[in-house]
Amino acid sequence: MAAARWLALALLACVAAGGAAAKLPTLAKPGGPPVFEGLSDISRLDPETQFPTTLAVGYVLNGLANYTYYNPATMQTMVQIGKFQSWQCATAKGTFKAIVGLTTLSNGTQTRKTVCMYGEVYLMQQQISWVQSESACPEALPEDGSYHTTTLYSLDRDATFECGEADGDADGYLSSSTDVGGPQGLTSATGPTSGDFGMAPSPAF
Ligand SMILES: *[C@@H]1O[C@H](CO)[C@@H](O)[C@H](O)[C@H]1NC(C)=O
Ligand SMILES: *[C@@H]1O[C@H](CO)[C@@H](O)[C@H](O)[C@H]1NC(C)=O
Repeated sequence: MAAARWLALALLACVAAGGAAAKLPTLAKPGGPPVFEGLSDISRLDPETQFPTTLAVGYVLNGLANYTYYNPATMQTMVQIGKFQSWQCATAKGTFKAIVGLTTLSNGTQTRKTVCMYGEVYLMQQQISWVQSESACPEALPEDGSYHTTTLYSLDRDATFECGEADGDADGYLSSSTDVGGPQGLTSATGPTSGDFGMAPSPAF
């Protein structure tokens, strides 16, 4: 009884003192997932048109991300620097969590925060779809499509991403259970052959 009451008091004290600042964990490995490197852009599906909109371009070099976001409506840029602090595989195949320190430079002001990122790696599409949160590590991509996708332009042909349970699929490729929340713009690795297309219609005069 006494122990339970002490625990309850301690929890109350935590709530009172902590407020919003939940402590994110330190994950098993230093830095970020090795696959998250090189030139890339960040896009998001437009909720109305379902087409991807590019939000930012940038790169990750040695675990330090540097992206420039551009807002065409305000013609303003915002620079976001992210330092991968620690990471580990998440449960499902091809997924990870990472703790990232983010510094945002926007219109002359600088803000900092630490987030936990949850990502799904699609090696064949050269894409990582992700969400992040300041309060806890997300466990999945939201089904409403409100996640971001990083397209990796420097990915090595032989790149692998070995996380989660092996089930005979190519490493890093997620099977149908997550296809709902999967990345946009699936492209074939080999590309279409000419036989995939009919003759171009001749112009009518
Ligand atoms: C990030 O990139 C900008 C240019 O877009 C550069 O001025 C800045 O020094 C870079 N910051 C880091 C930490 O690499
Ligand atoms: C940017 O900062 C300037 C100077 O502080 C301010 O006048 C302007 O309204 C700001 N612009 C935006 C879009 O916040």
